[in-house]
This record gives sequence, C-alpha cells and structure tokens, in this order.
Amino acid sequence: MQQENFGHYARKLSEEEMEKLSKDKVSLSEFKRNKLEAEAKKNWDLFYKRNKTNFFKDRHWTKREFEELANISSDGEERPVLLEVGCGVGNFIFPLISEGTPFFIHACDFSPRAVDLVKVK
Ligand SMILES: C[S@@+](CC[C@H](N)C(=O)[O-])C[C@H]1O[C@@H](n2cnc3c(N)ncnc32)[C@H](O)[C@@H]1O
Repeated sequence: MQQENFGHYARKLSEEEMEKLSKDKVSLSEFKRNKLEAEAKKNWDLFYKRNKTNFFKDRHWTKREFEELANISSDGEERPVLLEVGCGVGNFIFPLISEGTPFFIHACDFSPRAVDLVKVK
C-alpha cells in the first residue's frame, strides 16, 4: 500500500523486495565506512556552524501525517519510547512535545554543534 503526502510517501516493501534486500550483502570496507561517516559528520557539523537553528523549519505536520505518533496508548505506567537518530536542532521533536505526545523521547545526532544547539533551543 502506498500513501502519498506532500512529496513524500511511505510504503511497505513487497516480499520480493524484502528478499532482495536480505541478500544484499555488498559491504564497504571498515576503512571506507569510517571515512564516509567522518566526512558526513564533519559536513553536517559545518552545516550547523553556518546555519545554526535557521535552516530546517519545525515539522508541525508530523503528527498529522503519522497518526501513530499521537495515537499510541500505554497500558502500564511506562511511557512508550521514541528514539530519533539524527535529531538536528530538534525541528521534529520540539513540535511533537509542544503539541503533546505520549512518547518519552530520546534524541541524538553525530554533529556536536547540533547537539549543543538542541540543548539550548
Ligand atoms: C536532514 S537533517 C534532519 C534533522 C531533524 N531530524 C529534522 O527533522 O529537522 C539530518 C540530521 O541527521 C544527522 N545525521 C546524519 N547521519 C547521522 C548518523 N549516522 N548518526 C547521527 N546523526 C546523523 C545530521 O547531523 C542531521 O542533523
């Protein structure tokens, strides 16, 4: 099933695609992998040096588009947990928090500048 929303969409992979993905074992060398990650980290950090909190807009549409973010109910006392990997300066998590979310949110980013900015935002 495919769902179209403002230029992005989500769909479930077919059995065939799942099978293909599970067989895709082409991997990079550890050296190459580390190099690419270090470069990405450096470039994202430079990005936040230049743009601070001014580039990404708050994502006020996420709760509307992903109903599962609002409609999770917890039976027990423990809140459901959401982890955002690559939170940047918080444009996804802060709107969720201010609109009310049942989730306890953990967020991380590999850019130290983004992490500094998200802490004070
Ligand atoms: C397009 S920005 C989106 C930021 C935020 N999620 C938002 O919705 O505005 C992508 C973020 O992912 C971070 N990122 C990319 N790869 C990452 C990785 N491997 N580990 C941690 N953070 C990563 C970048 O530093 C950047 O802040």
